[in-house]
Amino acid sequence: MTSNPWDPERYERDGGFVWRYGHELVEILDPRPGERVLDAGCGTGQLTALIAESGADVVGVDNSPEMVDAAARNYPELPFEVADVRDLPYSGEFDAVFSNAVLHWVLPPESAVDSIRRALVPGGRFVAELGGAGNIAAIVEAVRWARRRSPGPNVENSFFFPSADVYTAMLESHGFDVEVADLFERPTPLDGGEEGLRLWLDTFAGGLLDGLSDDERATVVDRVETRLRPRLHRGGQWIADYVRLRVVARRSGPQTAPRSSQT
Ligand code: BEZ
Repeated sequence: MTSNPWDPERYERDGGFVWRYGHELVEILDPRPGERVLDAGCGTGQLTALIAESGADVVGVDNSPEMVDAAARNYPELPFEVADVRDLPYSGEFDAVFSNAVLHWVLPPESAVDSIRRALVPGGRFVAELGGAGNIAAIVEAVRWARRRSPGPNVENSFFFPSADVYTAMLESHGFDVEVADLFERPTPLDGGEEGLRLWLDTFAGGLLDGLSDDERATVVDRVETRLRPRLHRGGQWIADYVRLRVVARRSGPQTAPRSSQT
């Protein structure tokens, strides 16, 4: 069974911590009335709406049509569009691009960085948080350990969890001046009490559980819980070993050619 990580109902039910933690990033963005802001990877729109409360003109985009539909239902007064962050249909239009807990999914990361740069006005800011080096290392290790005991192929970690140095170098070589690049551990209590880890795996595990039958998947999840309980379970709650990379950067250099004339 392959899970669909972008099931909006499940995401809203089990992933509320994503946008609760995102409030701090909106404070760092510090949106101003009249500013044009792009929320890249808006999910079900909660942080887009928070940005809009500042009086900024915000647009939310997500590459999942289901998420965009849910965002539009949640906040019918706001504009949401389906767009891939690697190929944003904007050229020099935004004072700021904001992105919370999305860019670790996007490969190749350089395409996202180029596309975000193109969407910004010169001097415009890019404020983002993503999983950084070491993010969910214990969870990935436990899944790989559990899968080795089941038939079928193991999994590669297909997330992009860069260090501050790697991401800074990438941004600088793609036309940004980096003001902040902070990597920090943020143990993250998961919603759902005792069920929290399995709900997280259902909603967010990406490809980690792909290629397993329902029975194999249930066995692997049980093993993962057993292996991680001593480390990630406290007081009736699961706490994911999140590491965040937070960046603030500005688009440098002259205006680039419009998107349509670039290769
Ligand atoms: C994260 O936000 O760090 C994350 C979420 C789901 C899968 C992997 C990482």
